[in-house]
Amino acid sequence: MSGSALYETFARAPLAFDRGEGTWLVTDKGERYLDFAGGIAVNSLGHSHPHLVAALTGQAAKLWHVSNLYEIPEQRRLGERLVDATFADKVFFTNSGAEALECAIKSARRYQFVKGHPERFRIITFEGAFHGRTLATIAAGGQYKYLEGFGPKVEGFDQVAFDDIDAAEKAITPETAAILIEPVQGEGGIRPVPTQSLKRIRQLCDRHGLLLIFDEVLCGIGRTGKLFAHEWAGVTPDLMAIAKGIGGGFPMGACLATDDAAAGMTAGV
Ligand SMILES: Cc1ncc(COP(=O)(O)O)c(C=O)c1O
Repeated sequence: MSGSALYETFARAPLAFDRGEGTWLVTDKGERYLDFAGGIAVNSLGHSHPHLVAALTGQAAKLWHVSNLYEIPEQRRLGERLVDATFADKVFFTNSGAEALECAIKSARRYQFVKGHPERFRIITFEGAFHGRTLATIAAGGQYKYLEGFGPKVEGFDQVAFDDIDAAEKAITPETAAILIEPVQGEGGIRPVPTQSLKRIRQLCDRHGLLLIFDEVLCGIGRTGKLFAHEWAGVTPDLMAIAKGIGGGFPMGACLATDDAAAGMTAGV
């Protein structure tokens, strides 16, 4: 065995943290570090926040898992809170941001399918995007460094330059199902999409019968000073993927949808 037992997919710093206290991390040798990374935009409540610890340990001691074949009152309550706070009518919970994006992509394709347009499956994305590391989300992100060597790229993603709304309009074909965009591009360099551009994208979607998908996995959950970044622009999507900050380090994400956008996602699909 070479190195550690773990896949060598991360260039790790030679530091092991033993505990965290709010914004501080403490190594196994007792050194204290002020944490500016926040678990790559994940630890929205800092480390070991008492409210989060109490919620998780309380639940763990009571009941861990029952599957989605039964009612889960806490899941229902969180869904209702997200619906009350956003444009959404429906929520699907996931374990990660990439899965939330997969749900949004599948919802958009199924929406077109059940509305009588099975030919509409393509999704327009923007250069510099990052949407996760599953096979579909690396295709959506369109970055060669993540696609190389993983076989044929998942079909159905058309990428245009960042904030080039004219190019996005030209890329719309009879096969287009949706436009997917991060309101503030994260990995692409913390690039906010201008309000006017988000408004034009919304209009394009409405004019052409496309769904608008926001990826707020990184920029959502309070990072911009509002609960979601798109609230600054006053533009709402049909579908939205969130994760990271919503779990504060507990692995979870969610796909939010209007009733209409979720119309294709029925029992068994
Ligand atoms: C904008 C954006 N979308 C999607 C993802 C994927 O989320 P996850 O790593 O939870 O799968 C990330 C992760 O960094 C992200 O920044």
